[in-house]
Amino acid sequence: MANDNLGAAKKAKNDEFYTQYADIEKEMNAYLEYNPDVFRDKTILLPCDDPEWSNFTKYFAQNFETFGLKKLISTSYAPNSKPRDIPYQPALFELEDERFDEVKTQANGKIFTLTRDTSGDKRIDVDDLEWSYLDGDGDFRSEEVTKLRDGADIIITNPPFSLFREFLFWILSGSKSFSIIGNSNAITYKEVFPLIMENRIWLGATRTGVGSMYFYVVDSAPEKTGQVIDEKGRKLQTIGNSAWFTNLEHGVRHEALSLMTESDNIRFSKHDGVKGGFQKYDNYDAIEVPRVEAIPSDYAGVMGVPITFLGKYNPEQFEIVGGDGYVGTPPTKTYKSKSKVVNGVHMKSQTGTMGCVIRRDSFGQGTYFDVGYPVEAVYKRIFIRHKGQGQ
Ligand SMILES: C[S@@+](CC[C@H](N)C(=O)[O-])C[C@H]1O[C@@H](n2cnc3c(N)ncnc32)[C@H](O)[C@@H]1O
Repeated sequence: MANDNLGAAKKAKNDEFYTQYADIEKEMNAYLEYNPDVFRDKTILLPCDDPEWSNFTKYFAQNFETFGLKKLISTSYAPNSKPRDIPYQPALFELEDERFDEVKTQANGKIFTLTRDTSGDKRIDVDDLEWSYLDGDGDFRSEEVTKLRDGADIIITNPPFSLFREFLFWILSGSKSFSIIGNSNAITYKEVFPLIMENRIWLGATRTGVGSMYFYVVDSAPEKTGQVIDEKGRKLQTIGNSAWFTNLEHGVRHEALSLMTESDNIRFSKHDGVKGGFQKYDNYDAIEVPRVEAIPSDYAGVMGVPITFLGKYNPEQFEIVGGDGYVGTPPTKTYKSKSKVVNGVHMKSQTGTMGCVIRRDSFGQGTYFDVGYPVEAVYKRIFIRHKGQGQ
């Protein structure tokens, strides 16, 4: 259901999902715990934001002095560039400002900066944000916002879901530190997975399961599964399997998974595919480990694990050696079986591009057969081995 919502968001280009303060605080705390000076003397850019009511802007403005920030910049996207049904009302401070412009408030993005005490209360906080209209609509790809990227040290935001890939590459081409929210399926994008493999980017400290991260949506958002109303009557919605993607260090990625040996797994596990012994793939020299907690502590070779492994990945404990066909590296094969009769059983045609397959004893539902015997595809897999075991 949650994935349906993500699909719908993409189709309608509805990117209006606003992040909760507590979610931002939780993730940033993990970076601060690891390195209390992570934000010190840094210029932080928050693009694709709505600084007037964004919790990102609020969080960093409120903590400007505590974190020792050099400069905070937040930019918004013009109301005219957003879907038409997103209500827009200029904020009071803008309406009351002599620079208020009826056209620009709709057609231009805005920039908010925080560097100094403007209110005279001898503190630098949210009351000291200074604003102006951008020349353009605030599209992160514009020259104007790209220039802001180039001048920043760290980029932090929840970018438009429909432009996640583009946004990530926009950041990376500027070689910046970053922390952004995305759908954890992005792990398997063929452009993203190699970066994870090379430890250039990783998951943040908040690695949520399906439905555990909720975003504010506008009141008029159509009713959907996965919606809740908070104590203030605001509508929130979950969008699939959300996760933070970052290149900022945090402690969770250095915690080691505690694991059993291969023989103990086989002895104690209740799960098929483990209790009878780990199976080997038919088309790749690795064992199939269907559950992350069943990774054997003493297996020296390559192991195929579900992508949820990345939520537990510690680069000192494991190395990632590849991913299956779904994540851009071999093995991949397109099985194009035609209907045929095998051992008197009429097999229905099945076609699919698959990664790893496991040989089965008999034909049945879900098996493919054009290698001459039945094989069954397993879900997306990442290949790993214990650190120090590679040749
Ligand atoms: C997922 S929302 C998050 C908003 C805010 N950062 C937050 O977390 O509360 C993404 C925002 O990006 C804006 N947006 C969409 N396309 C954009 C683009 N090309 N450039 C800049 N912003 C864009 C959307 O209008 C939306 O406000």
